Amino acid sequence: MSAPRATLVRPARHVRGTLRVPPDKSISHRYAMLAAVADGTTIIDRYSTGADTLSTLACLAQLGVAVRREDVQGDARVIIAGRPDGFTMPSAALDCGNSGTTMRLLSGLLAAQPFTATLTGDASLSSRPMRRVAAPLMAMGAAVTLQEDGRPPLTIAGGPLHGISHTPEVPSAQIKSAVLLAGLRASGRTIVREPAATRDHTERALTAFGVAVTRSADGDVVVEGGARLHGGLTLRVPGDPSATAFLAVAAAGLPDSVVDIEDVGLNPTRVALFDVLRRAGATVTTTPTGEWHGEPVGRVRIATGGRHDVVVSPDEVPLLIDELPALAALATFGGSIVVRGAAELRVKESDRISALVSGLAAMGADVDEFPDGFAVRGTRQLTGGTVDARHDHRLAMTFAVAALGASHPTAINGAEIAAVSFPRFFDVLDGLRA
Ligand code: S3P
Repeated sequence: MSAPRATLVRPARHVRGTLRVPPDKSISHRYAMLAAVADGTTIIDRYSTGADTLSTLACLAQLGVAVRREDVQGDARVIIAGRPDGFTMPSAALDCGNSGTTMRLLSGLLAAQPFTATLTGDASLSSRPMRRVAAPLMAMGAAVTLQEDGRPPLTIAGGPLHGISHTPEVPSAQIKSAVLLAGLRASGRTIVREPAATRDHTERALTAFGVAVTRSADGDVVVEGGARLHGGLTLRVPGDPSATAFLAVAAAGLPDSVVDIEDVGLNPTRVALFDVLRRAGATVTTTPTGEWHGEPVGRVRIATGGRHDVVVSPDEVPLLIDELPALAALATFGGSIVVRGAAELRVKESDRISALVSGLAAMGADVDEFPDGFAVRGTRQLTGGTVDARHDHRLAMTFAVAALGASHPTAINGAEIAAVSFPRFFDVLDGLRA
């Protein structure tokens, strides 16, 4: 076996350019899973080719779903023939790779299937908490077993379900979605009482497939059991705002920089990042251009601005959870950021608080670690150095963006993990150097 390669990121003076980012990971997972249980054949244009969303397609294929992938001018078109009357029992464990969304959302679908299946993942996913999804599915009537410490493999024996009212222990779109997906095949009504609003792509996607989903004024999300999903759609996936975050931070952080990103998802549950960038002093302009199957889409321009101090309050965290590492990188260019109430970061693809703080510190940053967050002060220019992506795509991209502002190059070990959500990230970043 060859030794792992480090990716070298050199400092940059500016970033400039117009581009599209990869298709949204969260929406891609949902369109594929809903198409798999819907009537008819559904076409998904601009499906994400990140490793996570390919894990979802591979799992669906193992469940007997006919999945075809075509290349359309460099974008992936995925064609899925729905199995509304049930999947086939898989002959081996379903490998979810690095993807928490695959494992958690698929559990929701499998809860109603009359067979037993096991979901596994890589070392990172195998260390992530799954009781939060197993508990409500068991309350609905499925039998779920995990390791004693609540980690995967997750084995689920599906069967007849009944609706429940569930309040997730932490705000989580993944838990909400798993329960709603199980609720589609349950008797009666299923209600998810969100402790705080999370991304609502499942609700929007269900609506696109003709399912009535309601959200009450106090945040309860409700589906009725027995709904049939109407496939036969041609869907298109907007650009991923969480992928946009890394390029946006590069443009906001480096002097005389401006980046235009087209066809980005502007779903209100995903754009909190742009507000924080503005608070930090960047110039961010969003121009809505339309709606794709209930998902708002538009153009975003991010340009260099001031360097203000920013405090992210705990109530902002659920809608910024994936963007917090990128925002930490922004503060290395100047100003500062303090994030509290974000202990959830410790159970993402890595312990994102400890890995982020130690990685940025190794690059010369002025940082503090808290049990539930971090502080980064841009009091000095980074020196660069050697860091490890810790098998976490968002950390690989965070260190890369911070490295642009350093005085010397940075070597990122394991940087290829960026392809989990952003294939060709390093080429794209190089293409923006000016
Ligand atoms: C996701 C939800 C978030 C996010 C993850 C993708 C989704 O996780 O961090 O990257 O697609 O639903 P939680 O819902 O567990 O916070």
